Amino acid sequence: MDERKKVIFSGIQPSGNLTIGNYLGALKNWVKLQDEYDCYFCVVDLHAITVRQTPADLRKRTLEVLAIYIGAGIDPEKNTLFIQSHVPAHSECSWLLGCNTYMGELSRMTQYKDKSQKFGDSIGSALFNYPVLMASDILLYNTDLVPVGKDQKQHLELTRDIANRFNNTYSETFKIPEPYIPKAGAKIMSLQEPEKKMSKSDENPNSYILIMDPPDVIRKKVSRAVTDTVGKINYSDEQPGIKNLINILSSIKGITPEEITADYSDKGYAQLKSDVAETIIEELSPLQEKIKNLLADKNYLESIYKTGAEKANYTANKILRKVQKKIGLVPR
Ligand code: AMP
Ligand code: TRP
Repeated sequence: MDERKKVIFSGIQPSGNLTIGNYLGALKNWVKLQDEYDCYFCVVDLHAITVRQTPADLRKRTLEVLAIYIGAGIDPEKNTLFIQSHVPAHSECSWLLGCNTYMGELSRMTQYKDKSQKFGDSIGSALFNYPVLMASDILLYNTDLVPVGKDQKQHLELTRDIANRFNNTYSETFKIPEPYIPKAGAKIMSLQEPEKKMSKSDENPNSYILIMDPPDVIRKKVSRAVTDTVGKINYSDEQPGIKNLINILSSIKGITPEEITADYSDKGYAQLKSDVAETIIEELSPLQEKIKNLLADKNYLESIYKTGAEKANYTANKILRKVQKKIGLVPR
């Protein structure tokens, strides 16, 4: 491993089936980073259990997310791929950082505010502390850059605040990470409510396209996508549904929205929808094939996550020991 390479850390929760939002907004960009950076890509199972998961499903989805990472083109030889719970330092560091985090800071997190509105007083305390675990994930690897969608930016800012505070209190310990928000595919919106981001936890399955959705399901979902009554294909905030379809096309094909609107100046919504569906199908088919093959080879997947955990444990433990020592815990 080249010591001079900058470090990247990111993770996805195995809390549902991944959507093309995860793929276009996260995975596809990660693939481009693997040669230039020393990357840690984690399946954050401990984050997923902040809401109740069915144990068998959680196990299955954790392996699925790992298979999706690899299927999307993240090379296990070049990157460290691992499961969060296999590196106990994440949980341990989370406690230590929690002792240096304020209730006020955590209460201001929009994701928490949204969820607490939904669940009221019966919201789990882990949903409140969730960003502290995320900070541990990132800080344990001397991470330089964190590729995340816009929605995670606030959590990253909190991570930086926690790290800076720790460094000021106990002397230089953590590297201060930067967000890395890619331009293309930065946010894919719901097909049913295009003002909202496409989310794997949405109650309406027509609002998202899953990476594993078969072609006929993709065609049906795209054809039902909410549009507008303007009747002309513009790339505009007044036409959020159409804008989202253009973004999907743009991000898969690597062409600009302007080029797309020029192409469609004399075409209708039905044509756009059908082209979007076929483009998604073409992009996902080889991926689905690879993922299915990987999931059929549990031994291979096991060898990947075990090797990954070994590497991750090594790095994370070094930093955790440093943190424990600075705080004044007696070395073991
Ligand atoms: P999540 O599905 O919330 O665990 O997110 C995993 C990663 O995928 C994060 O980096 C998110 O920002 C990204 N992501 C999730 N949904 C979308 C979306 N609709 N558009 C773009 N990126 C997304
Ligand atoms: N909270 C992130 C999300 O919901 C997932 C995550 C957990 C993460 N730990 C991370 C992302 C560390 C980047 C770095 O998308």
